[in-house]
Amino acid sequence: MSESRRVFIHTFGCQMNEYDSAKIRAQLSKDGFVAADDPTQADLILLNTCSIRDKAEQKMHSALGEYRNLKRYGQPVTIGVAGCVAQQEGKTLLDRYPDLDLVFGPDGVPQVRGLVREAMAGKRMLDTEFLDLETYPFVSDIDPEAGKSVGAFVTIQKGCDNRCTFCIVPTTRGDEASRPSAEIVAEVRALVDRGVQEITLIGQNVNSYGLKVSGEKTFAELLYLVAAVPGVSRIRYTTSHPRDMGDDVVQAYRDLPALTSHLHLPVQSGSNRILRRMKRFYTREHYLAVVDKLRDARPDIALTTDFIVGFPGETDEDFRETMSLLNEVGFVNSFSFKYSSRPGTPALRLPDHLEDSIKGARLTELQTRQRELALAWHRSLEGSEVSVLVEGPSRHDAGVMCGRTATNAMVNFPGPEWLIGREVPVRVTRGFTNSTRGDWISPELSAPAELSA
Ligand code: 5AD
Ligand code: SF4
Repeated sequence: MSESRRVFIHTFGCQMNEYDSAKIRAQLSKDGFVAADDPTQADLILLNTCSIRDKAEQKMHSALGEYRNLKRYGQPVTIGVAGCVAQQEGKTLLDRYPDLDLVFGPDGVPQVRGLVREAMAGKRMLDTEFLDLETYPFVSDIDPEAGKSVGAFVTIQKGCDNRCTFCIVPTTRGDEASRPSAEIVAEVRALVDRGVQEITLIGQNVNSYGLKVSGEKTFAELLYLVAAVPGVSRIRYTTSHPRDMGDDVVQAYRDLPALTSHLHLPVQSGSNRILRRMKRFYTREHYLAVVDKLRDARPDIALTTDFIVGFPGETDEDFRETMSLLNEVGFVNSFSFKYSSRPGTPALRLPDHLEDSIKGARLTELQTRQRELALAWHRSLEGSEVSVLVEGPSRHDAGVMCGRTATNAMVNFPGPEWLIGREVPVRVTRGFTNSTRGDWISPELSAPAELSA
């Protein structure tokens, strides 16, 4: 048994990176690593990086600068860069930062123990090879931190076979591979055994799950399998591609109560001309038809999306189409971004890149309208009784519990800590832009026997 060492992981970007960081922790724990609360206490600092937009990449460089300073001022620490920037920049990072010890891309995660061992022994390590898709070694070790929270991510695929013209992901994460459904179900069981209630299945394009592997389940079939695991109270998934959202998945919304009434379905733009230039392979009309079907199957479904504004060649008219789609669907929330040119992506070579000031004005307009829609949605919940899966105390007040409805609305209400991990009825009293406030409906219930001694 090796002595205990401390690892600090700074995670940037999406859920896939959060998941990879959890898998890195899980594997390093086998070599005696425990989590450091603070980088100044760490023997190993890993930055798990994101390159989806230029801003994310810049954030990583400034954080790396701070960690390198710790080393410069005498802390004996090994520093590694992992994730999408590592994959994209590879050796350039080692050349640029002489005190950087380790660089590995997303496909290095299954090998992290060996990479760290070598790096800590003083060898500068670089691993940006993509692994064979057919035998891709998805990591099954469970994060030592799992079970501390109500929800957990479970990866169902890696990489992406789409080539949306703005997107760097296929370059940084490689082609798509589906994880065997038996492994997915086993991980879900292991998490539920640790007390996890809400499972979020993650992949870059979950709807194409299993299609390349003969005999594998489809994504819809996988949903049924996961819902059948005893103890799973809620299932979410991300990310869906509107082109591939099949009727079998829509049917699952009729059949599976555990499937939450919230779907994140990135649309990117409301203009068919721009969707074509993005190579999204669906039209606004197709997207709206999918929304109709989903609402037919699950009338209370809350829809969220991603938008990119200021894509090359986007005219004011195109942007008006995006605004009208926002209103027509009535998204309850969205992530919206100014188009950011990424190295090697096809959109880089498109004509008519827009000035930042135009992108900024469009983003502000879209986000202002989105906030109004979010507020209207939260206000529409006022007076209703909702079922809240309690996640933990609110950040501002330990006497206030915070949780989410199945539609993903955030609800804060006064209540005791023993409610964490339970689904409780709450009457919503106020709706705000980002959350709601309410009152727990059964406060006369006493604490469970094992807690009230
Ligand atoms: N510029 C701006 N936004 C982007 N996204 C992906 N690539 C870019 C880019 N180059 C956004 C998309 C995607 C989300 C994860 O990030 O909206 O759905
Ligand atoms: Fe990127 Fe498109 Fe793949 Fe999503 S579906 S990861 S936006 S290429």
